[in-house]
Amino acid sequence: MAAPYICRMNTVVSGIRPTGRLHLGNYFGAIMNFLKMQEENNCFFFIADYHSLTTHPAPKNLKQNVRTVLAEYVACGLNYEKCTLYIQSDLPQTAELYLLLNMNAYMGELERATTFKEKIRSQPDNINAGLLTYPVLMAADILIHRAHKVPVGKDQEQHLEMTRTFGNRFNRMYKTDFFPEPVAYNFGNQLIKIPGLDGTGKMGKSEGEGNAVFLSDPPEAIRKKVMRAVTDEGPKEKNQTMSEPIENLFTLLKTVSNDSTVKHFTDQYNNCTIRYGDMKRQLAEDMIKFIYPISEKIRETEADDSLLTKIKKAGKEKAILSADSTIKEMRRIIGFDS
Ligand code: TRP
Repeated sequence: MAAPYICRMNTVVSGIRPTGRLHLGNYFGAIMNFLKMQEENNCFFFIADYHSLTTHPAPKNLKQNVRTVLAEYVACGLNYEKCTLYIQSDLPQTAELYLLLNMNAYMGELERATTFKEKIRSQPDNINAGLLTYPVLMAADILIHRAHKVPVGKDQEQHLEMTRTFGNRFNRMYKTDFFPEPVAYNFGNQLIKIPGLDGTGKMGKSEGEGNAVFLSDPPEAIRKKVMRAVTDEGPKEKNQTMSEPIENLFTLLKTVSNDSTVKHFTDQYNNCTIRYGDMKRQLAEDMIKFIYPISEKIRETEADDSLLTKIKKAGKEKAILSADSTIKEMRRIIGFDS
């Protein structure tokens, strides 16, 4: 006899801030995870355009930014037939859930959020209520689909903890187990931190011109950036420990080049015959080999208005279906007459 069908698919939710072009660090830090997750989970990925209003009250080109981010994710391989890919502001249910959750979110806990304290410092002239309740909106994004897993970076874990608090609080208040407890989710050890080209720290847009290699960069731009990457004066003794800029270049090499290339330059470093220029040239060419097909796909997708419109519409419909059932049930639990 056939076993009864049990749905074991987990619901995964993650939001993407529309803050510009994607770089290699985004690819290996987040997108690769999304691509794997969409194969075996019920995934909701959305572009967090409401959230962007907390820091950019009148964002220039919001529509264009959202469109670019959508096109880039699609070009990287997010498949709108496998996952639900939507725009946050296309889902009014999130706003309703945000309102409901705000009633049970305490001032004290919101003020204690690290991100809020940072924002008070970084934008003292615009400490708006949206900033204070940023974690409530994020909780609404997650709870609206009653998610089990949330792929996020370390900097978002406190928000996720708050999401669990809000969900549990609702469950307790209304004596229900409606909201599952969402947990942070990534592929653990497979995650590679991608360093930037300026010698220290990770790859990022805000670290200054030339630090990040974008997935949309043409080959010539990649060559330029890599050739300008920070190095040191070279190894003086055999098997010398690498300085941070050199270690960073090797980390990049390991992500885009094959094993024999990595071994070739590691050996050369260890016996002090390395020429950083050669290594950079090789790194640039291997990066181009990796990025070029993606950048072509980005150009193609960005030019395809009808595809993007179709994806946006399909995502909105699927997301609303899921969100609507959550809101209806919540309203019933709370006791609204509808
Ligand atoms: N706050 C997240 C960030 O800054 C973006 C985000 C918004 C998000 N809503 C979310 C991430 C829900 C995961 C789940 O990166």
